[in-house]
Amino acid sequence: MNMDIVKKVLISEEQIRERVKELGAEISKDYEGESILLVGTLKGAVIFLADLAREITVPCEFDFMSVKSYGHGTISSGDVRIIKDLDESVTGKNVLLVEDIIDSGRTLDYLTNNLSHRGAKSIKIVTFLDKHDRREIPIEADYIGFEVPNEFVIGYGLDYAEIGRNYPFIAALKNEVYEK
Ligand code: IMP
Ligand code: MG
Repeated sequence: MNMDIVKKVLISEEQIRERVKELGAEISKDYEGESILLVGTLKGAVIFLADLAREITVPCEFDFMSVKSYGHGTISSGDVRIIKDLDESVTGKNVLLVEDIIDSGRTLDYLTNNLSHRGAKSIKIVTFLDKHDRREIPIEADYIGFEVPNEFVIGYGLDYAEIGRNYPFIAALKNEVYEK
């Protein structure tokens, strides 16, 4: 693990484990008697989805989408495109979108609009992190793991130039790393 680029660990592995357990219990209770299609966004949400799914007790299926928000460096642009679409239809299913982080809200705004035209029975959002101060489009998640301050974070699936996805905690990057 390259800790040279890390300013501070914000959320520990233990805190993550506890919170994911709580989210899984809450989701299982809310969807009692139903089944869920977990739709993860590649690649950032993969680790969260894998852990969360094992805390969900109602039947659930997985599918994945890859979207790219074209822009520079750490700033998202409004131009969102689907790089990899879902494998299966969502018609009649309870879709639970699983995101790593909501920042400007552009990615999720695009995804929820896109999926709502495909005949899902319901669509909800669970995000591991919420950087609420940065929101440009007023979109809210139904379930939030943690609120994070306006800093670039890595770990638990999230990366900076592909670094940090495998770190078991959430850490803030040193400002000089991403302000270059
Ligand atoms: P949005 O469209 O601005 O909400 O951006 C959401 C996407 O940007 C997330 O799914 C992440 O892939 C990426 N992103 C935003 N903030 C961070 C961060 O602090 N660390 C790593 N990736 C981030
Ligand atoms: Mg993402």
